[in-house]
Amino acid sequence: MVDGLLQVQGGRPLRGEITVRGAKNLVPKAMVAALLGRTPSVLRNVPLIRDVDVVSGLLSLHGVSIDYDQTEGILSLDSSSVESAHMADIDAHAGSSRIPILLCGPLLHRLGEAFIPDLGGCRIGDRPINYHLSILRSFGAVVDKQAMGIRLTAPHGLHGTVIDLPYPSVGATEQTLLTAVRAEGLTELRGAAIEPEIMDLVDVLQKMGAIISVDTDRTIHIEGVDELVGYTHTALPDRIEAASWASAALATHGDVFVRGAHQSDMTTFLNVYRKVGGAFDVRDDGIRFWHPGGDLKSLVVETNVHPGFMTDWQQPLVVALTQADGLSIVHETVYENRFGFTSALRKMGATIQVYRECLGGSACRFGQRNFYHSAVISGPSPLRGADIEVPDLRGGFSHLIAALAAEGTSRVEGINLIDRGYEHFMSKLAALDADVTRLA
Ligand code: EPU
Repeated sequence: MVDGLLQVQGGRPLRGEITVRGAKNLVPKAMVAALLGRTPSVLRNVPLIRDVDVVSGLLSLHGVSIDYDQTEGILSLDSSSVESAHMADIDAHAGSSRIPILLCGPLLHRLGEAFIPDLGGCRIGDRPINYHLSILRSFGAVVDKQAMGIRLTAPHGLHGTVIDLPYPSVGATEQTLLTAVRAEGLTELRGAAIEPEIMDLVDVLQKMGAIISVDTDRTIHIEGVDELVGYTHTALPDRIEAASWASAALATHGDVFVRGAHQSDMTTFLNVYRKVGGAFDVRDDGIRFWHPGGDLKSLVVETNVHPGFMTDWQQPLVVALTQADGLSIVHETVYENRFGFTSALRKMGATIQVYRECLGGSACRFGQRNFYHSAVISGPSPLRGADIEVPDLRGGFSHLIAALAAEGTSRVEGINLIDRGYEHFMSKLAALDADVTRLA
């Protein structure tokens, strides 16, 4: 069971200003990239979240010296003396993160071997690593499944290859990039993911000396180089966190200025926000989001890879949609099992049905299988406080929003999961005038 119990007195608009720093889904990968550099790297705009702790721990185990100035958000990483770590230590430090799989390519280059423990991550589907392993094999790695995890070696080095992804997976694209930059020869990656966090990782690797070109058709070409150096980089802002606070403003009839939010990474979200009836104002230093009064409007939305509507924006938005007038449909096409969080919303008074069918308008790869991956939300339904348990990171933040929007008192159990991806969320709630008390 995950720790942390929060009492929330709901029905009060969130009002005020918060700051988002670097993206959870970029920062750990940029930290892994530092392993490839002969000289030290500096990463700026680093948030204090648990995933950063986990990766710092893993890198330290491998001999990387790390210094983190939490206030300034500056992380210095020196990978000049990388060394092997003990399997048991890696296993103990990996926590629930999926990042260890991305250490494989860089460690194979630096040490000729890598070990990854059984991986965690949020409970939002099977989350297999088959793409990762087949990519690493294609570069020439030998994969040996053992009792505690997977051990990889590269007896003949790593060589450029052609990879055709069956689905534009974020992790598989990053795996390819982090391995190909130092592999011998050319690598062609077809069907790549092109999320802004991936483009930021490409920028990091280019600063290190990598040669990477991204074509218009989701093909990425990488020319392997013999040596990479350290980088200095400012992480792009966290567009998932920004959108989460935006949805919280909408669901609570509030008004929140998200300092650091960046328009061009959020275009699709902003279109949906406007269609639902939310208001926003883009400024140089962030975006203000608010509920302008009147009824919210129902809509149909499908999650997808970039430039589509992100799967991680879905759960906070669903809470706002419980307050929209009419029937909304949300079709989740990235993960097969990402509506588990809706059962708590039903308990709080929301009217939500989940279906196996693809209801959003297009057929997805989950359509002919047994997954409840479409949701129909009927609103507006007043929410009332309840005792609920956080299921995963994004679902958990949605529960928090629902509790803040609901009339009465809620007790939200397991809120420590939210620390994985939302920096200082307790002090941000206080800054937004939320009535929350930590009970445990
Ligand atoms: N997939 C496979 N095999 C694989 C890898 C992925 O079948 O080997 C499938 C997954 O099961 C899923 C789909 O491909 O159905 C997409 O997964 P992807 O690899 O793109 O996701 P990821 O790299 O594991 C990252 C983020 C997620 C985010 C997704 C999609 C990190 C650490 N995680 O996961 O973020 O939802 O991309 O954008 O970057 C979160 O922040 O809460 C979160 C879950």
